[in-house]
Amino acid sequence: MELYHPVRIKNIELKGNLFLAPVAGYSDMAFRSVCIENGACFTYTEMVSAEALVRKNLKTEILMRRAYNEDVYSVQIFGPEPDIMNAAAHIVLEKTNCECIDINCGCPVPKIVKTGAGSALTRDPDRLYKVAKAVVDAAGDRAVTVKIRSGWEKFQITWKEAAQAALEAGASAITIHPRTRAQGYEGHSDWSIMKALVEFVGEWNKSHGTSIPVFGSGDLFKPEDAKKMLEETGADAVMFARGAMGNPFIFKDATSLLQTGSYQPVPPDVRIKTGFAELERLVKDTEEKHACMEMRKRFAAYSKGIHNGAALRLQIVHASTVEDYKKIFEPVLQAFEEENSQNGQL
Ligand SMILES: Cc1cc2nc3c(=O)[nH]c(=O)nc-3n(C[C@H](O)[C@H](O)[C@H](O)COP(=O)(O)O)c2cc1C
Repeated sequence: MELYHPVRIKNIELKGNLFLAPVAGYSDMAFRSVCIENGACFTYTEMVSAEALVRKNLKTEILMRRAYNEDVYSVQIFGPEPDIMNAAAHIVLEKTNCECIDINCGCPVPKIVKTGAGSALTRDPDRLYKVAKAVVDAAGDRAVTVKIRSGWEKFQITWKEAAQAALEAGASAITIHPRTRAQGYEGHSDWSIMKALVEFVGEWNKSHGTSIPVFGSGDLFKPEDAKKMLEETGADAVMFARGAMGNPFIFKDATSLLQTGSYQPVPPDVRIKTGFAELERLVKDTEEKHACMEMRKRFAAYSKGIHNGAALRLQIVHASTVEDYKKIFEPVLQAFEEENSQNGQL
């Protein structure tokens, strides 16, 4: 099979296998839409609290809305209680009509883990089974997927038990981020565990006549990393997370690398214009002050590699209005335009 290929999750057909991972504080509607424009084949909302959904928290509902170009997407929920997860899944479907619900069994944050949710579920297969089954029961014909870690800590590697529980509960796909809860986001992800999961689910598929895919996440910072993960692990699809922050073009580049063997980096003016498109959408989805604060870190990333980028970033940290961003970047865009027209005349 070609490295870039379609993926099926239950009844969802995806044109390709390069996904945007759920990333709290980043993977909002505005950013997801920009990633799709640049070739992301499937997108996930950031994790949404089942408890908050059941309590009808309006802010939580905003997190799970569908972006304008999101033909299919997944809403990720987290929680330790099967009943609440079941009720939350009903609310998610009623409010969003999303095609897929993903269950977070990987978050390492102490506040989440101590409730029994997030990566605590990867080490508690019985609870993971009950939680996943409760969501599968609520989801009807919609796909339910599960995202796990490799285990709790170095001496408590539990991915196999977690995957088994997810499969028995009726999960339609499994994603693994092969770091332990104790690692957080430090050190390296262990792709050999991902490969072992691919083999494990492959055996399950053979004996159950199913075709459940496995998705990989962990240390994808360049297009070449995605190619390597697909080649080395046999994962059906891979997810960019930190590697896509401020660089939604990584999807375009990785698609080109997988299909043709090379890619052309996106020019700096296109990067900045994409930042403005994202800012505009974020203002519309939230409000100007919030959007401008949020876009500081994102514009800092968009301005990487641009001549005089360090000086720009010193100004970005003070930008509080759309006008502030325009003042910072309009002269830069103008300079690019002049340069482009001079090059055109040569
Ligand atoms: C700031 C941040 C927020 C994250 N939020 C979520 C989340 O809401 N749900 C989730 O399943 N994973 C979350 N993750 C994990 C990522 O989806 C991904 O699995 C992880 O970062 C490994 O990929 P990477 O090494 O390529 O960044 C988050 C990661 C980071 C760095």
